[in-house]
Amino acid sequence: MGNDAIRGDTAPEDSITIVNNASGDKVTFPILQGSCGPRVIDIRKLYGATDMFTYDPGFTATGSCESKITFIDGEAGILLHRGYPIEELAAHSDFMEVCYLLLYGELPTAGQKDKFVHAITHHTMVHEQLHKFIDGFRRDAHPMAIMCGVVGALSAFYHDSTDISDPYQRMVASYRMIAKMPTIAAWAFKYSLGQPFIYPRNNLNYAENFIHMMFATPAEDYEISPVIARALDRILILHADHEQNASTSTVRLAGSSGANPFACIAAGIASLWGPAHGGANEAVLNMLNEIGSPNRIGEFVEKAKKPDDPFRLMGFGHRVYKNFDPRARLMRESCHEVLNELGVENEPLLELAMELERIALEDEYFVQRRLYPNVDFYSGIIFKAIGIPVSMFTVLFAVARTVGWVAQWNEMVEDPNQKIGRPRQLYTGYEQRAYVPLAERG
Ligand code: SDX
Repeated sequence: MGNDAIRGDTAPEDSITIVNNASGDKVTFPILQGSCGPRVIDIRKLYGATDMFTYDPGFTATGSCESKITFIDGEAGILLHRGYPIEELAAHSDFMEVCYLLLYGELPTAGQKDKFVHAITHHTMVHEQLHKFIDGFRRDAHPMAIMCGVVGALSAFYHDSTDISDPYQRMVASYRMIAKMPTIAAWAFKYSLGQPFIYPRNNLNYAENFIHMMFATPAEDYEISPVIARALDRILILHADHEQNASTSTVRLAGSSGANPFACIAAGIASLWGPAHGGANEAVLNMLNEIGSPNRIGEFVEKAKKPDDPFRLMGFGHRVYKNFDPRARLMRESCHEVLNELGVENEPLLELAMELERIALEDEYFVQRRLYPNVDFYSGIIFKAIGIPVSMFTVLFAVARTVGWVAQWNEMVEDPNQKIGRPRQLYTGYEQRAYVPLAERG
């Protein structure tokens, strides 16, 4: 059937027919089946066949693209990266291997992994002029503001990897983004402290390097905790990619116009910053600190249920997961492991979070709306335990998600069906009217 719409009564099985009840007109559209997940109605010819658009604010039921990278089953709480369950990757893989998997579609051989890690490691330095660029910010600038600004400016420093029609330049830009995000992130943190920037070291792995750049000082040797390094590596895996979420869709839309990769990733960072998205991990910690003690949980749960109150239980709910977010479960497990291994007996925030989760999951409002803890609910507690300041929580999310953004961006650029993204609308404004000269206005 191709992707043509068909008028009239002929309708093959793998299709759906829309009947205009006013005119009786029938138009049939193809149904496409992926390798798993819901089928889709191919409505690319809808406007031509019906003079009508679809209407789906927030894209709650809209497939924006074809992808092979990540699959989510929200009902079953399943998350696969190139077919591999997140639980197995978190247990047996490491972040560099997951980066390779997301970019290239297969787990690397030992040789491929060594070559990839060597390449990423040797792109971790940033142009020295970026020192001065960061110096232009106020010391109290939110680190996400610095990330948006600096990453958006990278095309000015790495212009030799901005031709998106050149696969080699796309690969270099992708490696540069993955490799340099931790350096820029750590420098944003050091800048806020007034401490000197720490340079990446090629003898450290990705997570160790980030920890070293965040917490070392020139005054003494810094000993990296293997427990913290492993915990951070696992956190990076859990945040690496997540299908067509808001920030990834932002990267794809920006990229669809042919914008350079650094500008596209900066757009993704901006979208991730919102408290309804990646900014939720910072908001969860602020919320838990505001709740303060278990006897105030009920007050906040009730506040979250009030339709006229904009407050929501941060870290709860998800557009796709209507069951437990598998990452939240893994994050909760990590919380217990990391706190035990660090000898943190009873972290009050973890106790509070677990009590809040218990109360919310027994509350009819949350049960009826199938609101469960998401990836952001527990992540902040681990970040705090390993010494990451609250202002850096979303930055860490952006560091991890960069590989997902660049993998999805490359897939979009290479997609023969991709066009510039240009949604339409339901217009409810004024119909055409004549201009009124100033002298004649009331
Ligand atoms: C991430 O998309 C992704 O994949 C994102 C992400 C990724 O990896 O990229 O998973 C990362 O962004 C996780 C989400 C982090 N955000 C939060 O924790 C913020 C709190 N959550 C909500 O803002 C909300 O749940 C969203 C934004 C996550 C989802 O919003 P939806 O899908 O648009 O759902 P909705 O707003 O239509 O809510 C449905 C109902 C509403 O009530 P009714 O109007 O039906 O009465 O549930 C209510 C909402 O008011 N609701 C909540 C709630 N979340 C939804 N009520 C109280 N507290 C909440 N957290």
